[in-house]
Amino acid sequence: MAEYDLAIRGGLVATGFGAVRCDVGVKDGRIAAIAEKVEGAARTIDAAGLYVLPGGVDSHCHIEETSRGGYTMSDGEPQVTVNEESFVTASTSAFAGGTTSVVCFIPQWKGFGIWERYQDARTRGETGMLDFAFHQIISDPTDAVIHDEVPKVVAEGVRSLKVFLTYEPLHLSDAEYIKVLIAARKHGCLVTVHCENYDAIGWRTQALLAAGMTGPKYHAWSRPRVVEREATHRAIALAELVDQPIQVFHVSCEDAAEEIARAQARGVKVWGETCPQYVTLTAADMDRPGFEGAKFMCSPAPRDTAEHARIWEMIRRGTLDVVSSDHCGFSYEGTRGKGSSGRDASFEKIPNGIPGLAARLPIVFSEGVSKGRIGLEEFVKLTATNPARIMGLYPKKGVIQPGSDADIVLWDPAKKVTLTNALMQHAIDYTPYEGLEVTGWPVSTIRRGEVVMRDGKVQAEPGTGRFLPRGPYDLVKPRGVAPDGFMPG
Ligand code: URP
Ligand code: ZN
Ligand code: ZN
Repeated sequence: MAEYDLAIRGGLVATGFGAVRCDVGVKDGRIAAIAEKVEGAARTIDAAGLYVLPGGVDSHCHIEETSRGGYTMSDGEPQVTVNEESFVTASTSAFAGGTTSVVCFIPQWKGFGIWERYQDARTRGETGMLDFAFHQIISDPTDAVIHDEVPKVVAEGVRSLKVFLTYEPLHLSDAEYIKVLIAARKHGCLVTVHCENYDAIGWRTQALLAAGMTGPKYHAWSRPRVVEREATHRAIALAELVDQPIQVFHVSCEDAAEEIARAQARGVKVWGETCPQYVTLTAADMDRPGFEGAKFMCSPAPRDTAEHARIWEMIRRGTLDVVSSDHCGFSYEGTRGKGSSGRDASFEKIPNGIPGLAARLPIVFSEGVSKGRIGLEEFVKLTATNPARIMGLYPKKGVIQPGSDADIVLWDPAKKVTLTNALMQHAIDYTPYEGLEVTGWPVSTIRRGEVVMRDGKVQAEPGTGRFLPRGPYDLVKPRGVAPDGFMPG
């Protein structure tokens, strides 16, 4: 019998400790050897001229989420809707783009509990091909949810609680946010936070609407950098008060990143995530003719090209150490997605979010490595190793080392591709990155030792994606720092 199921020969392997030209041996879905020569494999793949990288870990994806309103600033949608991207279509898209695991979301509908939603999300996740974990959204932290249901969900392996400081009806007050921070500290969870000031956005939105400024471009005007900076500052300050580690999601600007950098310098456990849209898209994209700008509407809003350079600087400094997609697709045509309130709807009614699961790795590689802004090791850390570490999935995911899952992407660093929606292989009818030229492309994706994508063709059996339960992990332990030595329970 062959010693290995698979040998990947002669590629440049990014190990996390520098890149080495060597072979990788895979057995029973895991990395079994990294050596100059791996002999005795049932199957070999010639990776000469390619990079051999850990499969992407996308720790912020909205997939098949059910909702009763949300991701807008208007209070419509009382009925249950399901996010267009199913776990099957998302898996196809992820594999096409070199990503093998995701952390997505269990919703909480305002006025309802979370346990049923967890069960529903888990069942949905198991229909796909991607390995998946969950953040639990808390939009209504009642005593029953916090005291009875959060412990049950955590016991199942959900180790992050997600809160929104804006959106109707998801936003939490400071008192509610503190309640979630305390629960997270008690149960050993990370808290992930959408940082924008709800009341400030509401005030500006009403004023813009009253002035007849209703088109998609005014989405950006409703939420300038200062509302993100303020909420980031507040989110960190309250987390520091409670001594609870947090990750700030989708940082769009230096103003917010600086709040993170200052807190990190004080020793506060806070991490910052950014996304490809904040180094490629701008507010001007939302000013395209007619309704077209809706295709680029996400929150926080994309800024400008000068801000892209500042985000790269914050990545280079390590303040922002994860690049997720925040994949949250709403189709452009039809009545389900961006146009669900009509094609002349004012901006506050248009759902916020853009698709980006398949585009994430190519954009970060191309804009980062190919353009000389970061090295290969940084790329791997930003897109795989750091999200795995911060989410408590490391070293099972996010690294090529013996014992880790054999999630691997074979990467052609020289391949030039013009992004099109067809290449994204998602359920959404557009990509905001249409026409973007990238250098560097995934030629094959391997999930737990199985080749699931080759030359753009995805082949994987629905129902083979595995839930990734997350146990307690050191990174999210509180520091043991309490103001005046007093920490209320
Ligand atoms: O606009 C965005 N980012 N939509 C997805 C939901 C969220 O805020 O993460
Ligand atoms: Zn968000
Ligand atoms: Zn999101």
